[in-house]
Amino acid sequence: MNGGEGSTRDAVGGTGGVAAPRHRVTTIPGDGIGPEVAAAARRVVDAVCPGIEWVERSAGSVALAEHGDLLPDATLASIRDTRVAIKGPITTPVGTGFRSVNVALRQELDLFAAVRPTRSHPGVPTRHGSVDIVVIRENTEDLYRGIEFAAGSPQAEALREELRRIADLEVRPDAGVTLKPISVAGTRRIVRFAFEYAKRNRRARITLGHKAGIMPTSDGLFLRVAREDPIDRGDVELEDVQIDHLTARLVREPGRFDILLLPNLYGDIISDLCAGLVGGLGLIPGANIGWEYALFEPVHGSAPDIAGRGVANPIAMILSAAMMLRHLGELPAAVAVETAVDAVLRGGTVRTADLGGSSSTGEIAEAIVAALPG
Ligand code: NAI
Ligand code: MG
Repeated sequence: MNGGEGSTRDAVGGTGGVAAPRHRVTTIPGDGIGPEVAAAARRVVDAVCPGIEWVERSAGSVALAEHGDLLPDATLASIRDTRVAIKGPITTPVGTGFRSVNVALRQELDLFAAVRPTRSHPGVPTRHGSVDIVVIRENTEDLYRGIEFAAGSPQAEALREELRRIADLEVRPDAGVTLKPISVAGTRRIVRFAFEYAKRNRRARITLGHKAGIMPTSDGLFLRVAREDPIDRGDVELEDVQIDHLTARLVREPGRFDILLLPNLYGDIISDLCAGLVGGLGLIPGANIGWEYALFEPVHGSAPDIAGRGVANPIAMILSAAMMLRHLGELPAAVAVETAVDAVLRGGTVRTADLGGSSSTGEIAEAIVAALPG
């Protein structure tokens, strides 16, 4: 078991012959700034841990153009084969009724835990001194489950009739409806994951965000299962805070928080809030973990506003790769990458525009490679 991602099953470990790669990893460059930051991360990983065989696959608009499918079977099959994947962001067009490839991947592979470590970096001045928060987000349920009833559709009409019949509830005929399922089993596994993660990484407190007063059957269940689940909690404390109040407290006193345990939607929003606390989305890595597979990706999206110009910050993607190395059992390589990132940020001269500099994506990768311990 490795230190970084909690209670995941150890991933590939193949030793093979002398010349065999130590690890096989599926890589999905994505779109927008994805290919740019993915290339930078690959360059750093190849420098620090040469024994990786990359299996490149596509998803999103690139896959649609090449294979007529947003999420080709070959891509899913490759991840099931290599068990570990790293991907760049993938654009989800708004309002097209087109299912998010990112959400589909998490659900298909049952990657139920998103882990997003957010910490202050040396040389990146922010309003708050020392932030070190890990967001643990349930990744498969809640309003992101994809249970959508379009306004005016026959399905929405059938749902309205059923609600009238079973609950005497009236929904306006022109309403679109998204359902929010949160299950005992789905909650129990993310709660256990969070406690395992806390114990393994010597973290003292889990803060659970919810709106249980308003939504007792979904958020209330999430809170109750977390409180009552009979697991070994070690010395880890569990507290809960209403999600709206949590946002205010996070911007006032972020240094007080340790692990945040959140249902899917709140986890998405709070991850970006935490990114803002420490210098922006260009710095925050992420892992999506299930019992079988692990997919590493930055928290940020495809950034269409800066795509194709070679100015995106690759550090979020490079730190996601470091999380992947840790998951693969390559601890010294992971630490080397994180240390090199800190050294470059502390140096202050090589940085991308989001951090006030003018370096290119490639120059950041080059500087990080140069800062790796010889
Ligand atoms: P975004 O994260 O792509 O961009 C938000 C802002 O942050 C933009 O101004 C962008 O330029 C900046 N930014 C993001 N990453 C950066 C980086 N590495 N370096 C420098 N600046 C960076 O969020 P937005 O605009 O809401 O979403 C764009 C697309 O990405 C949408 O289609 C969305 O659905 C998708 N998306 C995909 C994700 C994934 O693949 N996991 C996650 C989040 C969004
Ligand atoms: Mg997000």
